[in-house]
Amino acid sequence: MLKKNNPIKLIKYYNFINYNLIYNNTAINRYKQEIFEVSKDKAKNLESLKNSIKNLKSCDLKKNARNIVFSDGNPKSKIMFIGEAPGANEDQEGLPFVGRAGQLLDKMLSAINLDRKKVYISNIINYRPPDNRRPTDEEIKRYLPFITKHIEIIRPKILVLLGSTAMNALIGSEIVISKMRGKWIEKKFGNFKTSVIVTFHPAFLMRQPAQKKLSWIDLKMIRDKKNNLKI
Ligand code: URA
Repeated sequence: MLKKNNPIKLIKYYNFINYNLIYNNTAINRYKQEIFEVSKDKAKNLESLKNSIKNLKSCDLKKNARNIVFSDGNPKSKIMFIGEAPGANEDQEGLPFVGRAGQLLDKMLSAINLDRKKVYISNIINYRPPDNRRPTDEEIKRYLPFITKHIEIIRPKILVLLGSTAMNALIGSEIVISKMRGKWIEKKFGNFKTSVIVTFHPAFLMRQPAQKKLSWIDLKMIRDKKNNLKI
């Protein structure tokens, strides 16, 4: 799988699987929100989407949540990642993937020379489900138009779905992740068509570290696609 004589790739891989070969103690400053210059239209559309979610009346998740968790990263990016729903840390900070799963996501990104400034990140659900339970089918159905619109506004060339909730919501409820991960499919969202790949959710990888081997294959596919598309 890995070429034996490529030390850089090996270090990235070992770093990703948490093998203590090298340490990087640099703290990630997530409090300093980057300001990205986006076109007026895009900024306006994102703001109006966020407001429509905030104005949604019929959602009990809002009763317990502190903050809306809308997105992080660069709205101009051509690579978009979508997870499931915010957890406690995300709810606290109002940003997706800032807890332990987020730390692993950062490592996954860095293993393929990406980081939060180069990608755009959101979730299927924008408010934390109590006790970190999985969102119900009804909740997913309620938020689906918003994440679909979100994709249409960002217009990524590569869309990465993290885990089965994102996959089942956006590709089809009958699909199983073990069969679907690591494959490129073309998918339309409204009038906009993009390349989609499913990979394991970082929280799943923390529970099943042996699956990081497969996740690494998916990450390399994302890296290669990004290079082919000259993103
Ligand atoms: N898990 C998710 O799916 N999304 C987050 O933002 C955090 C954890």
